[in-house]
Amino acid sequence: MAKVLKFPKGFLWGSSTSAYQVEGGIENCDWVERYPAGKTCNHYNRYEQDFDLLKKLNQNAFRLSIEWSRIEPEPGKFDKKEIEHYRKVLLALKQRNIKSVVTLWHWTNPVWFMKMGGWANKRSINYFERYTKIIVKELGDLIDFWVTLNEPMVYITGYSTGKFPPFQKRNIFKIRKVFNNLVKTHQTAYKVIHKKYPKAQVSISKLTNYFEPARKWCPIEIFFVWLGHIFWNHWFLKRIKNQLDYIGLDYYFHHRIVWYPPFIKNLNKKVTDMGWEIYPQGIYYVLKYLSKFQKPIYILENGLADAKDEKRKDFIRDHLFWIYRAIEEGIDVRGYFHWSLMDNYEWGRMGGFEPRFGLIEIDYKTMERKPRPSAYYYAEICKNNSLTI
Ligand code: BGC
Repeated sequence: MAKVLKFPKGFLWGSSTSAYQVEGGIENCDWVERYPAGKTCNHYNRYEQDFDLLKKLNQNAFRLSIEWSRIEPEPGKFDKKEIEHYRKVLLALKQRNIKSVVTLWHWTNPVWFMKMGGWANKRSINYFERYTKIIVKELGDLIDFWVTLNEPMVYITGYSTGKFPPFQKRNIFKIRKVFNNLVKTHQTAYKVIHKKYPKAQVSISKLTNYFEPARKWCPIEIFFVWLGHIFWNHWFLKRIKNQLDYIGLDYYFHHRIVWYPPFIKNLNKKVTDMGWEIYPQGIYYVLKYLSKFQKPIYILENGLADAKDEKRKDFIRDHLFWIYRAIEEGIDVRGYFHWSLMDNYEWGRMGGFEPRFGLIEIDYKTMERKPRPSAYYYAEICKNNSLTI
């Protein structure tokens, strides 16, 4: 028998993107040289059309990021035309009655900023503060939810392993600096936003993984789980816990920990096109952990690469089932954003244009947009504010 799981009133149903991955034409940031995204989906010029689709798919919220290197192509010089562009983008959402979740930094940095030492430079905090002030002043009236930083821990590890710009391996002391500067950057940006908008909703998006021991009785595995959790999930959040109006959760990964290398041994019964294990119940445990912070939670990213759209529908259904269960137990979850609205550029060596994360398929030759069957399935959920199982 079908059962209808009704979500709380006012729940946000949306999808997520980031500037470098969807806009196209970004020339001035640190990813371009090694991993050019080129035109990608040309969302920069087609945002109206994309928002019409978003509306047609019954989504009431959208996450995008502002490209810092467009706004501030040279230190202290702000590009009025680009600011105006983002005003138009945000207005286009308002006109369609779609709530905006705006990320100020989704991993890409202006080239000048990296030349000055990037996030290892103490002054990075001041540079970002200056940029945040401009955004607050010029666009703040159109922003419903703020995300200062996207997944800082992913950035920090990418930085240290050399997978992220400037693509050089770094020692542990440099990472510590980057970590501290990102913490302070969030804290400073939080203050700047709240100064003008005391009621602003500000957070980061926090990739939070579910770690569990392969053997529940094995002390070493339990210890490694604790270590992984503290380092990956807790460390950054703990430092900024007094500067969070809500928690932005990104959930993709479950790690089953063993005591021997390579320490992760997932059962991989179902995997995405990236080979990532699909483990929906993990989101429930992660939500339980995050509820300890006693803030509203918005799921700002959850999704999969699935070019054939064979698994996306079940993926959405199963994750929402576990999210619902958390809500039923009193956890204050207020929104779900699928990654991603459309196929886009995926980061780094394993990325490019092969992985297909979109509810909407993109034909990169013609730029045609075609919602996949799972997009219509999700649209029904958004329309009814409920999941039928
Ligand atoms: C990032 C996205 C990325 C997605 C899939 C998230 O960690 O925020 O930018 O495309 O994962 O890898």
